[in-house]
Amino acid sequence: MLAKRPPMGWNSWNTFTDKIDEKLIMDTADAMVAHGLLDAGYEYLVIDDCWSEKERDENGMLVADHEKFPHGMKYVADYVHSKGLKFGMYSCCGVLTCAGYPGSFGHEFDDAKYFAEVGVDFLKYDNCYGASMENKLAYSRMGLALRACGRDILYSACNWGTNNVHSWVRSVGAHMYRSTEDITDTFHSIKKLACSQKDKLVYSAPGCFNDIDMLVTGLKGQGNIGFGQGCTDANYRYHFAYWCMASSPLMIGCDLRTLTEENKKLLTNPILLRINQDEEARPPIFMGNDDSMVAFKYLSDGEYAIGMFNGWEKDLHIMFNFYEVGLMPSDNCAFQLTDAFTGEDLGIFRDFVHLPVAQGDARVFLAKPVLL
Ligand code: GLA
Repeated sequence: MLAKRPPMGWNSWNTFTDKIDEKLIMDTADAMVAHGLLDAGYEYLVIDDCWSEKERDENGMLVADHEKFPHGMKYVADYVHSKGLKFGMYSCCGVLTCAGYPGSFGHEFDDAKYFAEVGVDFLKYDNCYGASMENKLAYSRMGLALRACGRDILYSACNWGTNNVHSWVRSVGAHMYRSTEDITDTFHSIKKLACSQKDKLVYSAPGCFNDIDMLVTGLKGQGNIGFGQGCTDANYRYHFAYWCMASSPLMIGCDLRTLTEENKKLLTNPILLRINQDEEARPPIFMGNDDSMVAFKYLSDGEYAIGMFNGWEKDLHIMFNFYEVGLMPSDNCAFQLTDAFTGEDLGIFRDFVHLPVAQGDARVFLAKPVLL
């Protein structure tokens, strides 16, 4: 089974758009290993849009851009595999990709064959220029092509949450599905995408995960989707913490050649990754509102995770009354909390937690129920 747990990796789009080439991809593969990201679980290295020539060859096959990838894609895939990573590529269900390169419409089976021959392990399948076929059919068709191609390829469907995708996407064989519009490196975007999926996470489970979009942590305004200075470190904590609580795929989007210690620490936080990769991937119970939100997530090993998310413009104290999840003051049960960011044991909490959370920041706790 592919995608037993939320897929983790890196994708070229958020920083590099069409400024991709062989050297960047190979250097990124080196960096993923050198920074310990592969060891932490980030195993897919995915090239997004803009990798091909603008025309197919005389046999109708896709061709890698000769200048960007002078040795061809198999060479790059082999290098990525030699580092112990898995290799991902991109296409689109329409006649063109979103950036105007050839799309797979009418070529699905040939393209799946091409991806299998290259040694692709992951295909992101986008949604531009595809209006001539019903969306569900278009995604089902590529699902069939991938099944027929002779290689296990993780199918990442990217229709931006349109056409009630959550109601059919598991059925067409996708292993993850984009449920949102494109993220940008702003807190407004992070909060909007996060909150938009609160009632949709129930449609996410082993085998096919709700993908809230790629990570912007560490972008700091750089790259294709950056604005100004980008987000604060607090905002990136909120972002990563929410994606982990939501069991969303974790696809890093920053330049790994210049990964900062701060960002690396966040992306490899062992408690947050354990929450994200929990084998049962249960959706949290959400309380409060979008500005002051609490998420309570059942974990498979006897604990829970509690997330507190401050979406407001000022520092807040956020309150979580345990009766909201069925624990009454008269019960002889309480939670022992461990702070996911510091690893600190915060002791036993009865009845409620009421803790400060800075503006645009998040706190996450492992919560072990204990009898008193
Ligand atoms: C769409 C997708 C993005 C990215 C671009 C590439 O906008 O949602 O994630 O793949 O296309 O053109």
